[in-house]
Amino acid sequence: MMDFPPELINFLKKATRVAVLTGAGVSQESGLRTFRDAQAGLWAQYRPEDLATPTAFARAPKLVWDWYAHRRESAKGAQPNPGHYALAEMEKMIPEFALITQNVDGLHRMAGSKNILELHGNILNVRCSECGTFAETWVDDLEFVPRCKKCNGLLRPDVVWFEESLPRVQLDAAINATRTCQVFFSIGTSGVVHPAAALAHAAKAEGAVVVEINAEPTPLTTKVDFAFHGKSGEILPELVKAVWG
Ligand code: APR
Repeated sequence: MMDFPPELINFLKKATRVAVLTGAGVSQESGLRTFRDAQAGLWAQYRPEDLATPTAFARAPKLVWDWYAHRRESAKGAQPNPGHYALAEMEKMIPEFALITQNVDGLHRMAGSKNILELHGNILNVRCSECGTFAETWVDDLEFVPRCKKCNGLLRPDVVWFEESLPRVQLDAAINATRTCQVFFSIGTSGVVHPAAALAHAAKAEGAVVVEINAEPTPLTTKVDFAFHGKSGEILPELVKAVWG
């Protein structure tokens, strides 16, 4: 059993407004690779930053499509881990709870979380890169990227790439939840990709108690009120049990 500081336990027991920001680390124990981990196998020669951009898609659409197809298959085969479930439990205890995620894997929803703000889209969805129409089905081809049935534009994953802006509604809701929360969690994120990374700092500036749970220290660690280093799939269930168990 982990020892959590009693002040933190008390804050959480009394809290009515909590915001949580998650990153790729919360899905690591579900078998999905984090972004800044080394790529494996076939993809080891590419950096994610060189695949997840409109420029990369314009230059080599099939390469980018295939990388996402590969990641989509991994996401489809993945199951939530105890960290995802603990966050769904936490939501039930807190009247105003927002789960802001940078993840595109859909695992928070699968675990039962309700108020989810997906800042970077969802890898399971596919839309036209030109007219934006969502595609329910498409035919995979060895050579070509599938095309939109409506306008013949190239299909692409419904995720936010570097150089693209975040969905306005989700971002505004995330900023609002960050401003008004009493406790803010930053979990499984390296905290280097903006604007998501700025949320924890904003929460701190607004007077929230900020808690980091991450496998290793990040640029945020020295700024937070409480930092726990380890696996979120182990720490979160223990924390939920310690506060509400
Ligand atoms: N539990 C907690 N933290 C973990 C675990 C785990 N089991 N495994 C790894 N981590 C930590 C790593 O130490 C790292 O600090 O999770 C963090 C993951 O960081 P990134 O790979 O940078 O992922 P993320 O912060 O989500 O990336 C942000 O960058 O490429 C873009 O759009 C992409 O959403 C992504 C964004």
